[in-house]
Amino acid sequence: MKITVIGTGYVGLVQGVILSEFGHKVVCLDIDERKIENLKKGILPIYEPGLKDILDRNVAEERLQFTTNKEYALENSEVIFIAVGTPPAEDGSADLTYVLDCAKDIGKNIKDYVVVVNKSTVPVGTGDLVEETI
Ligand SMILES: NC(=O)c1ccc[n+]([C@@H]2O[C@H](COP(=O)([O-])OP(=O)(O)OC[C@H]3O[C@@H](n4cnc5c(N)ncnc54)[C@H](O)[C@@H]3O)[C@@H](O)[C@H]2O)c1
Repeated sequence: MKITVIGTGYVGLVQGVILSEFGHKVVCLDIDERKIENLKKGILPIYEPGLKDILDRNVAEERLQFTTNKEYALENSEVIFIAVGTPPAEDGSADLTYVLDCAKDIGKNIKDYVVVVNKSTVPVGTGDLVEETI
């Protein structure tokens, strides 16, 4: 399947790399240009045992890509994972700004039916909010 993972932090990077190891074509999208440029060179922002070897292998075999280009990452995807941060707001609730930014980007760029999976930590009901925003 063609899969996009939005956010290449602890959650999204591991998710994207492992899905490519299963044979899926994966595009990892992030707004952090430096992080993406480093990932293209095989420089990981986190340490997970074995992750670099799996990443390098799947990049070489053209199943795994890193980009900041939203249109490229989103327009032909069959499944999109949202894995961006949800920092606590002042009242302790999850700040959904980044998740809803992703929903807006998805809405602007998809051309067909797509499954959207939310991996970010969010309150009940966020699925409906994301769907409405898309
Ligand atoms: N770290 C964990 O062990 C863990 C476990 C379970 C759940 N979670 C949840 O998963 C989510 C992600 O956590 P994390 O630790 O990977 O976060 P992180 O801060 O390490 O990574 C988030 C990434 O998302 C990127 N990003 C932000 N807005 C974006 C946008 N609009 N488009 C593209 N990229 C964008 C950031 O540049 C960053 O690289 C959070 O909601 C967290 O609560 C984390």
